[in-house]
Amino acid sequence: MNILVTGGAGYVGSVVAEELIAQGHDVTIMDNLQQGHRDAVHTAAKLLTADIGQKEALDEVFSKTRFDAVMHMAAETVIEYSITDPVKYFHNNIIGGINLLDSMLKHDVYNLIFSSSAAVYGEPESTPIEEGHPLRPVNAYGESKLIFERILAWYGRAYNLNHISFRYFNAAGSSQHLGEDHRPETHLIPNVLGAVLNNENYVNVFGTDYPTRDGTCVRDYVHVTDIARAHLLGLEKLEEYSGRAYNLGNGEGYSVLEVIAAAEKVTGTKIQTVACPRRQGDPATLVASAELARRELSWQVKYPDINTIINSAWQWRREHPHGYAV
Ligand code: UFG
Repeated sequence: MNILVTGGAGYVGSVVAEELIAQGHDVTIMDNLQQGHRDAVHTAAKLLTADIGQKEALDEVFSKTRFDAVMHMAAETVIEYSITDPVKYFHNNIIGGINLLDSMLKHDVYNLIFSSSAAVYGEPESTPIEEGHPLRPVNAYGESKLIFERILAWYGRAYNLNHISFRYFNAAGSSQHLGEDHRPETHLIPNVLGAVLNNENYVNVFGTDYPTRDGTCVRDYVHVTDIARAHLLGLEKLEEYSGRAYNLGNGEGYSVLEVIAAAEKVTGTKIQTVACPRRQGDPATLVASAELARRELSWQVKYPDINTIINSAWQWRREHPHGYAV
């Protein structure tokens, strides 16, 4: 198939593009390269440097190539900034998304896979979280993802758009060639590994008074290549299961301190921690039930083990101590 990946130079998007190419698809990547990296773009993919905020650019992309499907991953993603500066989140994640949908429909493209997030749930009432759990985001990032999921439902109904949303829990790890490199880096695992590599050997722990087993936040870390494979399965079943949102997680939660302990084991380095105040917008615990994706999409996680996940991130990081060159 001919597939457009928005945000395909970013962390998850680049690995999804890599997997699509490995499965024989033709991939075009549209990315504004503000967060994404040119070096993360597969040599077999075509890169268009453009922003989903630019309607004309989108129209040009769709007039030049006939796409069978779109994977929409371009987004603002840092939870804390979404609280201090929500305007960007609503502009890029909602208005940008609507621009994309409008261009798709104008050019008769009716298949979309959307990168949503565990952040749509907010503070969970019960764990593991199933897709039917109440949707009450506690940050503007989660709100923007939820609003777009809802917009998709209406577009699906009115315009026969086939769509599946994947609610990622915490994407982590690396493929052989592609890893995690955000600037500034806010994510736990790259920060921990960066501290080891830079001989800082200390990591800030945001919040030690959460109602969890050790007082730090619990998250469900899921290997980025497992996330990528779910997209391929979703593509195959897009018509059959159009309208669905699927959790992508391992069903296993690790606290911040447990992740740091696992990273100490993987790297063979003692890591000091500094207790810091809570970060705004962080729910205490987010752990997925991915039963629905297993049942309907036959999604099987290959790398559920946290040590394996961290080790893959560590291998990539050691080969790219300063991240991507460009
Ligand atoms: N944390 C630290 N120190 C750090 C970095 C993070 O203690 O240096 C803590 C955070 O406070 C949080 C946990 O580690 O409790 C995980 O934080 P990340 O930033 O790695 O990930 P988040 O859970 O905030 O968010 C990620 C993605 C979102 C996505 C969300 C879904 O960034 O896009 O997972 O759960 F929505």
